[in-house]
Amino acid sequence: MAPPKHGPSRGPPVREEARLRPTPRESSPRRYLMCPPAHFAVTYSINPWMDPAKPVDLPLALAQWEDLRDRYRAFGHTVELLDPDPGLPDMVFAANGATVVGGRVLGARFAYPERAAEADAHLAWFRRNGWAEEDLRVPDHVNEGEGDFAVTASWILAGSGFRSSPLCRGEAQEFFGRPVIGLELVDPRYYHLDTALCVLDEERDEVMYFPEAFSPGSRAVLARLFPDALRATAEDAAALGLNAVSDGLHVLLPQTATGLFDPLRARGFEPVGIDLGELLKGGGSVKCCTQELRP
Ligand code: ARG
Repeated sequence: MAPPKHGPSRGPPVREEARLRPTPRESSPRRYLMCPPAHFAVTYSINPWMDPAKPVDLPLALAQWEDLRDRYRAFGHTVELLDPDPGLPDMVFAANGATVVGGRVLGARFAYPERAAEADAHLAWFRRNGWAEEDLRVPDHVNEGEGDFAVTASWILAGSGFRSSPLCRGEAQEFFGRPVIGLELVDPRYYHLDTALCVLDEERDEVMYFPEAFSPGSRAVLARLFPDALRATAEDAAALGLNAVSDGLHVLLPQTATGLFDPLRARGFEPVGIDLGELLKGGGSVKCCTQELRP
């Protein structure tokens, strides 16, 4: 006999119960593109984190990056590698080189000439690795890849203000066929969207972000789209704590963003602190080093 549809309920209503225990989380296997920091250096300054007078410890930068790569692999993810170019010291920040959604690749177009050649290196990698020409787009407008694009199930978020042009929003929407939401960045320390916002769970449209990095209108948009978002403090944002990568369960983030660990655990995530102190001198951390190749 089928159970009655509206039987007497036992215990608290479902909604209240859901609030009492964290959402069950599950990691899903990812494919990432990374570029070893073999030629990493801070020889110019295009963001407030970069001071060419500060020395970089290259062997330490490499060891820190290898640790991140090995953690991804230990969690069961695939890490593809892009060959570093000796003339491109920022190439380790692979997130900026393209945006891949539904197997389609929107190439990057960099705001500063120092990084311009990285865009072709990325496109060449996709061509060599089996992507068809009709799935690749050389962009018309400046966009710095996943530095300024974030992807959830419902939207693509597109940051502008320092690097990517607001015009890249329309281009991305047409190419990917997904609604693109523009967000204005206003604090030069958070010059890319991925320094101020991180997608924790695409399927649930769940993010964490630092409201003060955005214009008042964009803050209102974020509050409307993501009412349950985890909001970071100024300290955690300043540790580049939002420059994080989530696989649905593990959230890899700068280890010094300590204030984010408990709120992430309370939501059912497993925070994993990573030390990328040398790469921070270039203004980047976990997410900047990681481009996600979404099937
Ligand atoms: N030095 C690099 C730049 O200013 C850092 C890029 C960091 N990447 C990122 N996805 N936020 O362009």
